[in-house]
Amino acid sequence: MMTRPVLLLIPGALRKGSFNRLLLAEAARAFGEAEVIEADLDLPLYDGDLEEAGGVPDKVQALVAQIRGADAVVIGAPEYNKGISGVLKNALDWVSRVPDGAFRDKPVVVVSAAAGRTGGEAAQFMTLACLTPFQPRLMPGPMVLIADAMNAFDAEGRLRDETSRSLLAERMARLRAAVA
Ligand SMILES: Cc1cc2nc3c(=O)[nH]c(=O)nc-3n(C[C@H](O)[C@H](O)[C@H](O)COP(=O)(O)O)c2cc1C
Repeated sequence: MMTRPVLLLIPGALRKGSFNRLLLAEAARAFGEAEVIEADLDLPLYDGDLEEAGGVPDKVQALVAQIRGADAVVIGAPEYNKGISGVLKNALDWVSRVPDGAFRDKPVVVVSAAAGRTGGEAAQFMTLACLTPFQPRLMPGPMVLIADAMNAFDAEGRLRDETSRSLLAERMARLRAAVA
């Protein structure tokens, strides 16, 4: 269909040096030619009073517009205490407040990088569970779990492990096929 699809990267961490951000950059390279956009989840905490007083904040509306405009989405889920990051959950909660489901039928892949030995597996499963109400098109493929994240990337931000690179490539090829 399209020659240059829009790929939205959603890092579930705010810090600049986030390993999940590095992993998303690797995912984008594996996805291939695309207009790559990165979401900013630095949003106010969801607060029903804030919403009632001023509606859904502009930054959330901008995020929703990015999701709507994307042909494919990759979420990088950090693991905090065996769960989804508050930053990511907060963003999902806000997005859910905007009618007409931005994620509905959207091709989505979740990947994770974490310090621990499981590579954020618990957070990744929890993210998939939290996405359920949004009814995205979760793309199948091998799970991408980057363990020992601080040693997993080289100085150029490339994944060192060949197996991880090939699993990511397979996953991204399937995402790419979904928008072709
Ligand atoms: C509050 C907190 C909780 C954490 N809990 C876990 C955990 O349950 N499992 C794990 O593998 N790493 C855990 N870590 C380490 C993170 O995996 C590590 O900080 C990682 O770099 C976070 O992702 P980021 O690099 O994308 O920011 C935790 C870190 C923080 C700050």
